Amino acid sequence: MKEILPEGGVVRKLWIGEAAKYRDHLLRLDAQSRRNRFSGGVSDQFIRNYVELASSLDTVVHGFFIGGTMRGAAELRPLGASSPREAEAAFSVEQPWQSHGVGSALLRRTLLAARNRGFCLLHMACLADNRRMQQLARKFDAELSFDFETVIGEVESSRPTPLSLMREVMSDSHGFATAMLDLQSRMLRA
Ligand SMILES: CC(C)(COP(=O)(O)OP(=O)(O)OC[C@H]1O[C@@H](n2cnc3c(N)ncnc32)[C@H](O)[C@@H]1OP(=O)(O)O)[C@@H](O)C(=O)NCCC(=O)NCCS
Repeated sequence: MKEILPEGGVVRKLWIGEAAKYRDHLLRLDAQSRRNRFSGGVSDQFIRNYVELASSLDTVVHGFFIGGTMRGAAELRPLGASSPREAEAAFSVEQPWQSHGVGSALLRRTLLAARNRGFCLLHMACLADNRRMQQLARKFDAELSFDFETVIGEVESSRPTPLSLMREVMSDSHGFATAMLDLQSRMLRA
């Protein structure tokens, strides 16, 4: 399916060694988006530690890049041995790029990755007043149940098929080529 993204933007997986791009993206979030992303106000140091930890875990991060800068992210993290078929997902898009379809593209890509890893249930935690995330989750048939000030959206992920695995491989090879072209053009400019 063709993704509708802001002009010049691409969604691709983050490669090993690119954690700083993720950290800088999260640090650039405005106060409200940061609160929504982390279900509360957090410090810059918290974000630095968070990204360091995320990089050491079995986490898949997709990024939305424009002009080589990461402006959006989707994180998929397995819940661990106690719930091997479940994972947690979290999303962030910098304010100027919100409401342009980036969150939808990131969620679509994350669902594909979840499906191909055999996850049946994807947890998304967001504050109860975060209408945009709730709308986004509803677009993908999330079922929402309320719990204190947070909403937990649970999306059933379908089983992997040869086609779904192929779609992820194709997206990754396209993302790799884009990353290389971007690196090359920045080296030429330097
Ligand atoms: C939540 C977030 C990831 C959504 O990303 P986005 O790029 O803004 O989302 P999209 O443009 O794909 O829009 C998704 C849906 O949200 C809804 N939406 C978009 N803008 C909206 C707005 N201003 N108010 C309410 N709903 C809105 C629409 O239903 C839209 O679907 P549609 O365009 O098909 O109608 C992004 O806004 C964000 O990073 N917010 C701050 C961090 C956060 O809240 N993270 C979630 C916690 S895990």
